[in-house]
Amino acid sequence: MTEFIDLAALPRDFAWGTATSAYQIEGAVAEDGRAPSIWDTFAHTPGRIDNDDHGDVACDHYHRWREDIALMKRLGTNAYRLSVAWPRVVPGGDGEVNARGLDFYDQVVDGLLEAGITPSVTVYHWDLPQALQDRGGWPERDTAEHLAAYASAVAERLGDRVTHWATLNEPLCSAWIGHLEGRMAPGLTDLTAAVRASYHLLLGHGLATQAIRAAVPDARIGIVNNLSTVAPAGDRPEDVAAARRMDGHTNRWWLDPVHGRGFPADMLEVYGVELPERPGDLDTIAAPLDWLGLNYYFPAVVADDPTGPAPFARQVPRPGFPHTGMDWEIDASGIETLLLRLTEEYGARSIYVTENGSAYPDVVLDDGTIDDTERTRYLEQHLAACASATRKGAPLAGYFAWSLLDNFEWAYGYDKRFGLVHVDYKTQQRTIKGSGHRYADIIRAHGGSLGGSDRAA
Ligand code: FCB
Repeated sequence: MTEFIDLAALPRDFAWGTATSAYQIEGAVAEDGRAPSIWDTFAHTPGRIDNDDHGDVACDHYHRWREDIALMKRLGTNAYRLSVAWPRVVPGGDGEVNARGLDFYDQVVDGLLEAGITPSVTVYHWDLPQALQDRGGWPERDTAEHLAAYASAVAERLGDRVTHWATLNEPLCSAWIGHLEGRMAPGLTDLTAAVRASYHLLLGHGLATQAIRAAVPDARIGIVNNLSTVAPAGDRPEDVAAARRMDGHTNRWWLDPVHGRGFPADMLEVYGVELPERPGDLDTIAAPLDWLGLNYYFPAVVADDPTGPAPFARQVPRPGFPHTGMDWEIDASGIETLLLRLTEEYGARSIYVTENGSAYPDVVLDDGTIDDTERTRYLEQHLAACASATRKGAPLAGYFAWSLLDNFEWAYGYDKRFGLVHVDYKTQQRTIKGSGHRYADIIRAHGGSLGGSDRAA
């Protein structure tokens, strides 16, 4: 059963894309001068990743990128969000630039443009060079400066063809999940380190923004945050206060400083950690941006949790709401609420949904097809909610489905499949799933509803 989705409100030049990130798909971890990142180290630490999976080979995209661009074309997408691997480009973290690392992205960018697909490049999607971690990593200020130098090298090489740039992907995960909850690289559980990391990530974002602007005068620069709607599990005052803290931790901590509002005072109190602030930093962090990236997966419904880690709030399942294979609650209205919040509360002038998608244990049928109706439904519901937000005034400029391919899903390894395209990891065979075909139909229908012979195919 396919559902009609009214997409007429989406602009004519809407970016229809898919997204990936370097470590999750590339493999080739020791080729052409790449050095290890914190994710190589973390993944090779026994017990950190389900099944002890790692990204050594992943989707072998490093060697199969031509085939993967052909898949994007078959989906009818006109945009693609990729990340550049810092450990390929500046293997030591700072200092020497590895031209061979840049050559790879150079070719991919040319291949995309030839296919009529606009690249959107994310500079940092979590793969910090291990050499920098050995010198303290994100809790140290130098890391922010090294990020800017690396961003500058990438922008100088690709900036004659790439105008769409994101500095960071989900700094929340790097800081909170990597340094406080320990479920992601570098695997620390240290509130002070986490707060310092969050500060230097945002400082790095501001410095990288300046570096990209200096190298690419017509750059359109944004930052990608994963945000959640937050509601209390009940009306107990403790739960209402927990929801306020969770909103600060998940949303305001990352949005306020970038919008020149400084770090939320209530959260400074919750964390009780002094910021490593120097004069001028807050202005750097608030460097003007051209767009905001929203990654949306699930809402947060929380109860007070005084013994847990900051922000002392824990997620509680709501009865009656379905879950994906990640056990993430499905509520498409959240994406609409967040798009409108970015518009109304933060004055966003241009927003991209830079990630949205769902994992399910797909079954490959005897005839080789994958009939992933639940993922298809998730996609349809969230696109409908995006269109609704647009009708209400959100300046939504594009949607990037997570993900093009099944890939290395961080601590969950390869069992969690988010792709619109199935990957058989034994043979590296790619097969477009039902959801991928549906996405292609939706993109075509949007073109058609605009009278669209001029749409990129
Ligand atoms: C986001 C990450 C992305 C992917 C999806 C499922 O948090 O940015 O790399 O793992 O979740």
